[in-house]
Amino acid sequence: MTILDVKYLSKIYEGQVPRQALDNVRFSLRAEEFVGIMGPSGSGKTTLLNVIATIDEPTSGEIRINGVNPHQLGRTETALFRRRELGFVFQQFNLLDAMTVAENIVLPLSLDGVPVGEMEQKLNDIALKLGISDILDRRIYELSGGQMQRTAIARAIIHKPSLILADEPTGNLDSKASDDVMRTLRTLNEEGATILMVTHDPVAASFCKRVIFIKDGRFYNEIYRGDNRQGFFQRIIDMLSLLGGDRRVLSTIRL
Ligand SMILES: Nc1ncnc2c1ncn2[C@@H]1O[C@H](COP(=O)(O)OP(=O)(O)O)[C@@H](O)[C@H]1O
Ligand SMILES: [Mg+2]
Repeated sequence: MTILDVKYLSKIYEGQVPRQALDNVRFSLRAEEFVGIMGPSGSGKTTLLNVIATIDEPTSGEIRINGVNPHQLGRTETALFRRRELGFVFQQFNLLDAMTVAENIVLPLSLDGVPVGEMEQKLNDIALKLGISDILDRRIYELSGGQMQRTAIARAIIHKPSLILADEPTGNLDSKASDDVMRTLRTLNEEGATILMVTHDPVAASFCKRVIFIKDGRFYNEIYRGDNRQGFFQRIIDMLSLLGGDRRVLSTIRL
């Protein structure tokens, strides 16, 4: 079953000097895939994710999530669609600092008017799964980066979205926390979640089952993991050096 279909997507940012951020990008994600998007900075990764997330409009082409083109929905429907079908994980966590872990996690459910008993049940299930049961009463500012990101992931998945979208989820984490977060995402994927993740970190990308490379807004290549993560990591590095452009990628290596 296809969860996400990206068809001939183009995006031009108008302005004094128009910029083509995406050029005819085409790919799809089947249910239970875990796909990474990589490319030099400025290659269009965030734009791609924002168009899929309906945060931004494409100039041409379309996307479908479970057969629905969210860009054709009205404003209220788009907001509902985004809240029900998508789960977002960001580099900056986007948590509400003064609230507790529990309050942050159930926020999407309370917006949807889910009864309290059901919310508690879901909260406890998800906290157990992510190993954060003992910090549910803490406030966000008391957490480590890794705990913040696991809280953000819990919030992103508590409503069982069709698709999890992550933009540099390990971008603000040290290597240990990064590893924990990637293991968490891998486990969620093994349990059935479909994930699309933008990253410039080859270690994080090596947790994916497939990595799509883009360059100058265009599809460049894609590779599949197979069963050897170390070998996959090496092929990712090789592809990045072919791609060129972003020296930063080679300075973040830490296996
Ligand atoms: N809001 C915007 N207005 C104009 N140009 C933009 C905007 N956002 C991104 N761009 C340009 O589009 C291109 C792709 O950017 P982006 O999607 O952020 O790339 P990446 O996430 O791969 O670094 C870049 O050339 C960038 O400067
Ligand atoms: Mg970006």
